[in-house]
Amino acid sequence: MSSPLRLGIAGLGTVGAGVVKITRQKAELLATRGGRPIEITAVSARNRDKDRGVNLSHYAWEDDPVKLATRDDVDVFVELMGGSDGPAKAATEAALKAGKDVVTANKAMLAHHGQELAQLAEDNNCVLRFEAAVAGGIPIIKSLTEGLAGNDIERIMGVMNGTCNYILTRMEDAGLSYEEAFAEADGLGYLEADPNLDVGGIDAGHKLSLLASIAFGTQVAFDAVELEGIGQVSIEDIRQAADMGYRIKLLGVTRMTGRGLEQTMTPCLVPAVSPLGQLQGGTNMVVVEGDQVGQVVLRGAGAGEGPTASAVMGDVMDIARGLRMTTFGQPASSLVAAQPAKSATPAPFYLRLALQDKPGAMAKVAAALGDAGVSIDRMRQYGHDQSTTAPVLIVTHKTTRPSLDAALEVLAGSDVVSGDPVALRIEKV
Ligand code: NAP
Ligand code: HSE
Repeated sequence: MSSPLRLGIAGLGTVGAGVVKITRQKAELLATRGGRPIEITAVSARNRDKDRGVNLSHYAWEDDPVKLATRDDVDVFVELMGGSDGPAKAATEAALKAGKDVVTANKAMLAHHGQELAQLAEDNNCVLRFEAAVAGGIPIIKSLTEGLAGNDIERIMGVMNGTCNYILTRMEDAGLSYEEAFAEADGLGYLEADPNLDVGGIDAGHKLSLLASIAFGTQVAFDAVELEGIGQVSIEDIRQAADMGYRIKLLGVTRMTGRGLEQTMTPCLVPAVSPLGQLQGGTNMVVVEGDQVGQVVLRGAGAGEGPTASAVMGDVMDIARGLRMTTFGQPASSLVAAQPAKSATPAPFYLRLALQDKPGAMAKVAAALGDAGVSIDRMRQYGHDQSTTAPVLIVTHKTTRPSLDAALEVLAGSDVVSGDPVALRIEKV
């Protein structure tokens, strides 16, 4: 059998410990499938004394991940520390410059520095792989770069943040408020160290920008993702959506239009009976639409030790087998600068307004929408007791977000709407 492929693993938390376990427990299977043994030679984390539930005594220890990345006895640097910059980026760059292949689960680093790191990898005849960075255990990067490579991709949609889906699901199923569901997710350890990465849509936006790059041959354009978190979604919205046969999901959508690249990560209404509508708890789903294949749906665990380590090992196995795939499915130098376009694909919208309960208020809303060219499909004012504002729900016919925003701006300057309106796209899936 050929010489072993030697891994240096930086980061021994949830994902890193999972990778150590698979490498040890499945050594024979991996060697048979990869055609050579997969071995860990050195590891790194902050605290050497922490019990991680795995025996690390066989491996060399490095306090400094950059030193680990450049060791002579490391062929593949496995970056599982996290963070867009700092030690993760420094060690990844050092590894590539030293001619080591790199496998990472770090979506933040790639969303911010993907282009330069992909170029650095190619300049040094190395590969940089990141299957685990998007949708956990779902092999979406492999699907896009390999199995679907013969397609023009028309649209990618997905629920790619398990924490947000858990919160929204619990609000609907258990009738919890946003705050209660958030606290529950926190108690289960689901939230990132900075919870805004999850509920603010940033983590999912990172993932979407990476998929868009592969799908459309563009340089990663995370800064151009239109982001909206789930903090404004209330139990009332969830109930009203359910009443109309919809569920609310933090949905990523990217497509290339004649105007440029659209990337949105926003709460949307999707049909409750659709695969995306049926998605429960922390599960992820990615839907890819190709001109030849039609619609492909991938569903699976979006996070956690086993699923994420499974994706890391998929990349490691490709390297063991000698597969030298480019980072984004084509040479980095051939990725074109994305021309970002604000989402203007027509869709119906769900609108919830707190309307002053006085004569003529509804007429002003109808006029503002009509003047902006927005047509009303359904409208209802629902029960309210003694309060001076009346909750009003409107579903529009297909319109564009800019047209709707024009109407909302007029209403914001009027004396009939209180607070911020909630406006959610109804996505055809
Ligand atoms: P984690 O549990 O917080 O583990 C992070 C590890 O990195 C810890 O072992 C930590 O050391 C180590 N570390 C941090 N700074 C370091 C430094 N300066 N030098 C050396 N080691 C350092 O994180 P995780 O959940 O495993 O996530 C790792 C990566 O995978 C992140 O990029 C994350 O976004 C990505 N990811 C995670 C999941 C998931 O389900 N958890 C899913 C997909 C992608 P100590 O243990 O000593 O503190
Ligand atoms: N915080 C992320 C999530 C972890 O909830 O999906 C996996 O990337």
